[in-house]
Amino acid sequence: MSSLGIPNVDAGLEREILQGLEKVERLLASHIEGEYPLAVETSRHLVEAGGKRFRPMITLLASQFGTGITEDVVSAAVVCELTHVATLYHDDVMDEAPLRRGVESANNRWGNSVAILTGDYLFSKASDLLADLGPEAVRLQAKTFERLVIGQIQETQGPGSGSNPLEHYLKVVADKTGSLIATSARFGAMLSSASPEITETLTNFGEKIGIAFQLADDVIDISSDSSQSGKTPGTDLREGVPTLVTLQILTSERAEDANLREMLSAPLNDAQALEVLQVLRQHPALTKAKEQLHSLAHEAREILEPLPSNSAKEALKNLCQAIVERTA
Ligand code: IPE
Ligand code: IPE
Ligand code: MG
Ligand code: MG
Repeated sequence: MSSLGIPNVDAGLEREILQGLEKVERLLASHIEGEYPLAVETSRHLVEAGGKRFRPMITLLASQFGTGITEDVVSAAVVCELTHVATLYHDDVMDEAPLRRGVESANNRWGNSVAILTGDYLFSKASDLLADLGPEAVRLQAKTFERLVIGQIQETQGPGSGSNPLEHYLKVVADKTGSLIATSARFGAMLSSASPEITETLTNFGEKIGIAFQLADDVIDISSDSSQSGKTPGTDLREGVPTLVTLQILTSERAEDANLREMLSAPLNDAQALEVLQVLRQHPALTKAKEQLHSLAHEAREILEPLPSNSAKEALKNLCQAIVERTA
């Protein structure tokens, strides 16, 4: 495994992407500076705590199908990470999550209002960078952000009567997570002057791998420890947010799951969440969710077929495998 977290990456490509990611780090750090010390401190909190930088990496890899990593590509990668981090501040308020990126969440440390406003501050910083990338980039980000927010709202609302809970879930996942990962890929292609066909292909790939990425996240909420994920396991259970694993149980009629279905139908306290976690870790629904994740990753890999052969295409193919196996 390389330090990009992708198996068998070409050494030259890896060097190129790691250099690009260093530029991303520098711009991220300098761009969140501002005149008001508390906003800078609360913003640095999660930016400096790390994270995988998955979206910037996708942008940089996509740029390899055009002219490579330019200043604009780096700016767009930072826009995607800033947008993502901003949504993490907001998401942790919504999910009442105490831990993020291995550190105390901003809502826990400074309260909900400061956490929400820090997210807004980071959105403003993303917009500032976008202005230099031109109107097409601004519109793309706006549309993406709209989808992301609608996904989060629809998750909160739930499927409502008459709509299929699994279909609702998959739509939520595509909107809240697939949208920004698709756009991360699109920015990389678009700003490196890749052809329209390549740009479309990479966007579709980003959307699909983004959905797989969220399914993996749902599995991680059940199977990983905090030391791996940097988050508190069982957050979805405590909040009563259905995921692929719990939905399969909720929508089945397996008699032995009657008790579990009862517990999964409402938010849980810490002790109940822990109890349900133990059951879910051994449950066939977890295996089934992993199989669905596998098949989505396979679909993502197939989308790449029409792309010209290069080391980035191989890396993206191998990334599909890494997504399935990720535990953080
Ligand atoms: C977490 O995203 C939220 C999701 C959309 C799944 P990441 O798993 O990319 O979080 P970081 O950036 O590595 O912290
Ligand atoms: C997060 O979904 C999606 C966005 C931030 C848009 P989750 O609530 O599943 O992500 P984690 O598990 O908190 O990272
Ligand atoms: Mg959350
Ligand atoms: Mg959430």
